[in-house]
Amino acid sequence: MTAINAVTTLEREGDIAVVTLNSPPVNALSADVRDGLAEAFRRATADAEARAIVLICLGKTFIAGADISEFGKPPRGASLFEVQDLMEGAPKPVVAAIHGAALGGGLEVALCAHYRVAVPSARVGLPEVNLGLLPGAGGTQRLPRIVGVEKALEMVTSGQQMSAKDALAAGLVDEIAPEDGLRDAAIAFARRIVAENRPLKKVRDQNDKVEAARGRPEVFEQFRKANARKFRGFLAPEYNIRCIEAAVNQPFEEGLKTERKLFMELVTGTQSAAQRYVFFAERQVWKIPDVPETTETLPVAKVGVIGAGTMGGGISMNFANVGLPVTIVETSQEALDRGLGVVRRNYETSAKRGRLTQEEVEARMGRLTGTLELERLADCDLIIEAVYENMDVKKDVFGRLDRIAKPGAILASNTSYLNIDEIASATSRPQSVIGLHFFSPANVMRLLEVVRGAKTSKTVIATSMQLAKKIGKIAALVGVGPGFVGNRMLAQRQQQAQAMILEGAMPWDVDRVLYDFGFPMGPFAMSDLAGLDIGWNAQTSKGETLRDRLCEMDRRGQKTGAGWYDYDAERNAKPSPVVEKLIRDFAAEKGAPQRTFSDQEILDRCLLPMIDEGARILEEGKAIRASDIDIVWINGYGWPVYRGGPMFYADTIGLERVIQDLKAMGREPTELLKRCAAEKAPLHQAKGAGMERS
Ligand code: 3HC
Repeated sequence: MTAINAVTTLEREGDIAVVTLNSPPVNALSADVRDGLAEAFRRATADAEARAIVLICLGKTFIAGADISEFGKPPRGASLFEVQDLMEGAPKPVVAAIHGAALGGGLEVALCAHYRVAVPSARVGLPEVNLGLLPGAGGTQRLPRIVGVEKALEMVTSGQQMSAKDALAAGLVDEIAPEDGLRDAAIAFARRIVAENRPLKKVRDQNDKVEAARGRPEVFEQFRKANARKFRGFLAPEYNIRCIEAAVNQPFEEGLKTERKLFMELVTGTQSAAQRYVFFAERQVWKIPDVPETTETLPVAKVGVIGAGTMGGGISMNFANVGLPVTIVETSQEALDRGLGVVRRNYETSAKRGRLTQEEVEARMGRLTGTLELERLADCDLIIEAVYENMDVKKDVFGRLDRIAKPGAILASNTSYLNIDEIASATSRPQSVIGLHFFSPANVMRLLEVVRGAKTSKTVIATSMQLAKKIGKIAALVGVGPGFVGNRMLAQRQQQAQAMILEGAMPWDVDRVLYDFGFPMGPFAMSDLAGLDIGWNAQTSKGETLRDRLCEMDRRGQKTGAGWYDYDAERNAKPSPVVEKLIRDFAAEKGAPQRTFSDQEILDRCLLPMIDEGARILEEGKAIRASDIDIVWINGYGWPVYRGGPMFYADTIGLERVIQDLKAMGREPTELLKRCAAEKAPLHQAKGAGMERS
């Protein structure tokens, strides 16, 4: 065996040369890997005794793509194209042996082999679109030549992976190898190719499928139309489509040039920078400086949920979905039946859409046990309280739980803004108390704010984070404080939105600006959807706020056919003249001077105070790092991922401008913002002031 460099070896098994990559964790195509591959293929090609070449990887996966951390840095080492030319142009068969995942540049490398062999558990895909990119190493030109235009469009714009079985059916893989015998199977396959004198199959020369789509531009137009909603705001899907169009309409080499040009545009743009940042942020968020991965965790085999309302039901589904039994406690049989009924309807809807089998619906429902007795939670390892947002009620529940729960059980509150330390003070075991703030609908939304109390133990934190991963959430550890991270920043935006409509902007102006920015909807549309009467009381309402007045007029949102907007029978929103008059009269009553707003001003008023509040959260040490705040906003509040979250966005528009405009709004920016601006340090890389504890 010859070591080519630190990550590549070359050896010969009889008449077959074997190139082996070993660059943990995912064999990404770093400069070292490219150098190693180029040299190994040169030598294997020159080796007269080698009749074919197998490329295989060690570790958990085949090549998972380009090395994302290299983007934006000066190029180093052999280029990927050089490696690909050496493989595709080799005068002897090259076989890629795939396990784990062949993703992005990894699949693009494999597509330059003449044949591909994969184990059953292997997956292939071109996920570049999720990084705001397109496959920039020939993927958009080679993929449609194998799978056809429609399938290629779907794959490159969704980034979805394909199983080995489907890849075999689609022609992306030539043979399935035994799970534990990839190396031997690939070598045997290579020998067979040689023995049978099979041709050196170059994907670039297979033109049938792309020619079939030539002169049918409607294929692309229909695809664009069908996906317009999904692609809204993103550049990369459209760029990917254009590349597939080029594969159809241009000769291979020209198509490659188009791909390169469009790739360069994306990779140097803000959207891809944001999406690459989010890729790493999603992995960082799990890392807690003083709670290392080796921290002991508690086994969680049984879960209790208090409250079968919308939150309690949704929370319970998360655990039932992964096989954990859940006991749900309510105060009346009626509420319990209603809650379990809603859960069943949710599952039935999934079954109707083909996402679940009927057996699976029954299996999941079978894991849920309803009860009216809190005592039934005595054997639960984790108990999540999801009752009414009221401190006295919560303290009462926790006081009772303290007497019922077994020693060591985790006692969690789903509160969205109350003080976890005060809740914990109602127990004799504050070390076991933590906040698990789910977002509605709790069975759908990916975010979980894990709230660390002053006395929460590291074991409880580590167990909560691990559990979050198990139920498919993305969890951010945050500190105690009103509204934690997400709702605390949201309150800033709400305040500004309410203030602006008294100063002359209309709710639909504010909503439109935020929608155009990339949010799924603005605050007023959101409020109509949720219902304006949440927390409103008809008996005590005195018409003091616009909300009071709307509710008093029975304009309580979509459910009453009117709220901030008017709704037609299909629930389409229309600006409401009634609301406009109501707001103008209210403003006149308050003596609020009226003026017009530009879209930019509306946007700044909504977002800049949020950024400032985010910086304050870091100063107070209520989040570990700025990127965690961005994760919260992307996954919990629909912040568009291509803008990277509020902290990242602040850097893209410039901290100097943020500071200046905050001052113009009469708000003194936080020290952290000013310091980052003065030191030209990116805000999105700022750290929270020590959330660690000994
Ligand atoms: N470049 C650099 N680092 C990468 C990487 C990549 N392509 N892929 C993963 N990593 C790093 C992660 O940041 C993580 O680092 P950490 O341990 O320091 O946090 C580590 O590798 C392990 O990754 P995961 O935690 O994600 O491990 P999993 O086992 O859960 O998942 C995976 C493995 C499915 C391969 C997943 O990492 C993944 O999806 N990677 C990205 C794949 C991708 O997007 N490829 C396309 C890249 S762009 C490209 O190829 C352009 C080309 O067309 C020119």
